[in-house]
Amino acid sequence: MKQTKKAHIAVLVSGGGTNLQALINAQKKGILTSGRICLVISNNASAYALKRAENAGIPTAVITRRDLGSQEAMEEKILKTLKEHRIDLIILAGFMSILSEHFTKAYDHRIINVHPSLIPSFCGEGFYGLKVHEAALAKGVKVTGATVHFVNEIPDGGEIILQKAVYIREDDTPETLQKRVMRLAEWQILPAAAEKVSKELISGDCSRDR
Ligand code: GAR
Repeated sequence: MKQTKKAHIAVLVSGGGTNLQALINAQKKGILTSGRICLVISNNASAYALKRAENAGIPTAVITRRDLGSQEAMEEKILKTLKEHRIDLIILAGFMSILSEHFTKAYDHRIINVHPSLIPSFCGEGFYGLKVHEAALAKGVKVTGATVHFVNEIPDGGEIILQKAVYIREDDTPETLQKRVMRLAEWQILPAAAEKVSKELISGDCSRDR
């Protein structure tokens, strides 16, 4: 029987959007079936992720702190836009802004984030993008990976949903490691987590309904 009820998903981005692309591909391939990407919001007008959304026919919004004057005003505008689109689940896919407690409480257990390390290693404020891989190589860890977790008021501190490990090679640079962690871990576990959480939300198998 054809599934009709789907969680409405908004993806928040800031940059290249390869994780957004992985979600779009998963939707096309039928890996993400319990949710539908209805909206992409960027806090950076020149993010390539916006082009990826356009190519997939997904509506976009650009909401920046620079245009609105403060983080608070930016968050209020994002919240308003999410409400207008009746969004059930927010996916942070390379969204480089730490959301306030006011924001995260409004979508308790309805915001997920992908982070490029095995939390609790190399996470929290200041650990984002390439910096995470630089820190992992500087420490000399032999295994790293990626984590998808719920977002709460503590940066990278919410409940872990999925993780995947990736071995470090002796000749890795931050750039080669970042690419491998994306390909082998992030692009796999983000769509899988999106499907898992969407399914829970639509089945009502979720004690956290707003
Ligand atoms: C990804 O590696 C993602 O895990 C990371 O930024 C990159 C965004 O790439 N996010 C963080 O570091 C958040 N703390 P993308 O725009 O190509 O998806």
